[in-house]
Amino acid sequence: MEKEIKARVDSLLGQMTLEEKAAQMIQVSFRHLGREKSLEWAKRGAGSFLFAMGEDAKELQQAALSSRMGIPLLFGIDAVRGHSVNDHATVFPTQLAAASTWDKEAVREMGRVTAKEVASEGLHWTFSPLLCLARDPRWGRVDETFGEDPYLTGEMAAAIIHGYQGDDLRNSDSILACAKHYFAYGEAVGARDACDSEITRRKAKEVFLPPFQKAVNAGCATFMTAYGSMDGTPFTANSWALKEMLRQEMGFEGFVVTDWGNMTSLMTQQFVAETPEDAAKLAAEAGNDMMMSSEEFFDTAVSLVRSGKMAESVLDEAVGHILAVKIRMGLFENPFRQGDPKCLGCPAHRDAALNVARESITLVRNDGVLPLNPTQKVAVIGANGDDIRAQYGDWTYFSHPLPDPEKEPVRPYVTVKEGFEALSKNVVYCRGCGPMPCAKDDLDAALDIARDADVIVHVVGDMIDQVGEAKDRANLDLSGRQSELHEKLAALGKPLVTVLLASKPSTITREAARSNAVVIAFNGGMFGGQAVAEAVYGVFNPSGRLPISFPHHAGQVPVYYNALPGWHFGPNARYCDLPAGPLYAFGEGLSYTDFAYEDLTLDADTLQARVTVTNTGDRAGRETVQVYFRDCVSSVLTPVKQLIAFRQVDLQPGEKKTVSFQLNRMDFSLVNAKEQRVVEPGKFLLMIGHSSKDADLLKTEFTLS
Ligand code: NOJ
Repeated sequence: MEKEIKARVDSLLGQMTLEEKAAQMIQVSFRHLGREKSLEWAKRGAGSFLFAMGEDAKELQQAALSSRMGIPLLFGIDAVRGHSVNDHATVFPTQLAAASTWDKEAVREMGRVTAKEVASEGLHWTFSPLLCLARDPRWGRVDETFGEDPYLTGEMAAAIIHGYQGDDLRNSDSILACAKHYFAYGEAVGARDACDSEITRRKAKEVFLPPFQKAVNAGCATFMTAYGSMDGTPFTANSWALKEMLRQEMGFEGFVVTDWGNMTSLMTQQFVAETPEDAAKLAAEAGNDMMMSSEEFFDTAVSLVRSGKMAESVLDEAVGHILAVKIRMGLFENPFRQGDPKCLGCPAHRDAALNVARESITLVRNDGVLPLNPTQKVAVIGANGDDIRAQYGDWTYFSHPLPDPEKEPVRPYVTVKEGFEALSKNVVYCRGCGPMPCAKDDLDAALDIARDADVIVHVVGDMIDQVGEAKDRANLDLSGRQSELHEKLAALGKPLVTVLLASKPSTITREAARSNAVVIAFNGGMFGGQAVAEAVYGVFNPSGRLPISFPHHAGQVPVYYNALPGWHFGPNARYCDLPAGPLYAFGEGLSYTDFAYEDLTLDADTLQARVTVTNTGDRAGRETVQVYFRDCVSSVLTPVKQLIAFRQVDLQPGEKKTVSFQLNRMDFSLVNAKEQRVVEPGKFLLMIGHSSKDADLLKTEFTLS
């Protein structure tokens, strides 16, 4: 901790009573406790509130400042894709869609815009980004991740954290980022939300901690502990993870907040604590600084210290971490700091959301049917083609955490149908059916308009009821009657374009085989529909790349590309009743032009790699050049392929560029059986190309001494 900050922290701690310290470690949900109780907590010196906005937040701040110590409150909110719990804010695509852009600058800008809008309400802190890996698509929160890969996740994390926190935390439009959920939440067994993650410490260091390390390196001010557990120890009670790893090894200097009720759940869900005292002691001693929505921490912590069962220094340390962040962001000098209220949903911010939506569109199949021509008569079919709630998915004002499904959607937004109508006069729409069977389903009506069209665009996917916390799915097939309708549409024998507007991969092998083109849109936010239509009509050339593999079948999961080698991972290895490999691989994505790779070189001394990429088609396009490696022989099993770098290049038709990468030795490291990150000398394979698929990669072998 910086000297000057430490001196201020020590001075504050010296003046605080035990009760004031315990209160500082509490984060209260305004929404759940209501105004009166919340005001009491503010006066008692609570450290933070979540879900308090606008005038409510101001009133609470005033109450906190009038308390004996007058320590300002921190206000946190889930602004995970724009400040989208506010119905007038800019709604961005989900993190998963944003990761499909592979564009760090666009993702940084997403963070910047979000920060400005959150700060415009006088709030200070977003519980974002989510850095768990989505290696099992059955998990309900895949939409909130940057996909399955630790490297891509870490790069995107650093970008969005820089966006949130800006150049200086003291700026009134900077907000605190929160790296969550620490860690391996996405790896819970069977993708059952918040359950145990069957991993070891070595594997944690190898796979799950690296994105969090990048968050620390990017200066991320706060971390949130995960709900689950690892090897019998809840993450909330894991001092190895919170102290040894996070603070000592990774160098984190901010503060740690638990997830919702995590302290209490040590007792009520995980049964490692019998009483609130046991739970409070476990959570505090393990290294959690702030308890989200576990108010009983207050009384229990005070009595634990008074009875000599817990050292007061435990509280001092935690409160010190919290106060240091408050000091760093200048909250004491400027407790009512606020950004510019006029920026909420302003045109420049909407442009940023449209940009991410466009860049996220990933074309994974096209036999030449796309781009469409506005003179073609198009039948757009499917509930998700004209349902802003489904298009938004989770974490907006319709859904979590302040759900209001009946709320009237606030313009501007553009559904897929509206996007098509804006670009062509020859568009008809019919709902047909959606992800949830309902009385409105009318397959015949959809077939009627399809019969009369030149091209059919079937928009399929999932909707809010199938997405989010504790909404894991055992079955990833298209739900409701969507598959049945798709089959009937295909039987008409017309060109068929399938658009997946969903929170995550669905198993669409059959649908893809019947389609002339497949577009993956995920949840594209307010302009997601416009982006789909523009991609389909070729207004822009799609450049998205999948940040996650698409399984053929839920029973094939996991199919992430960076698997460990073994009998099941050779070129021909497969389940005997499924094709080998995924339907669509990590990094995959087409455009309306083609790129050719040649001349891969690697200087084994300088570790400078080069490759030449040519746009061999007749449209300008953006290629994402992906760099993977494999350690050919290693003391522990290492992945068959691992992403270690990527770069985007814009190429005119016929244009050729040499793309170079300065790699370094540690890029080729592994975590050995002693849990040390090392580079083991020997043979390596460097692979550069268009996607993680072998057929897309140029390869060269080299030796590290
Ligand atoms: C629980 C979720 O797991 C977490 O991601 C979120 O930030 C908190 N609730 C607050 O809403």
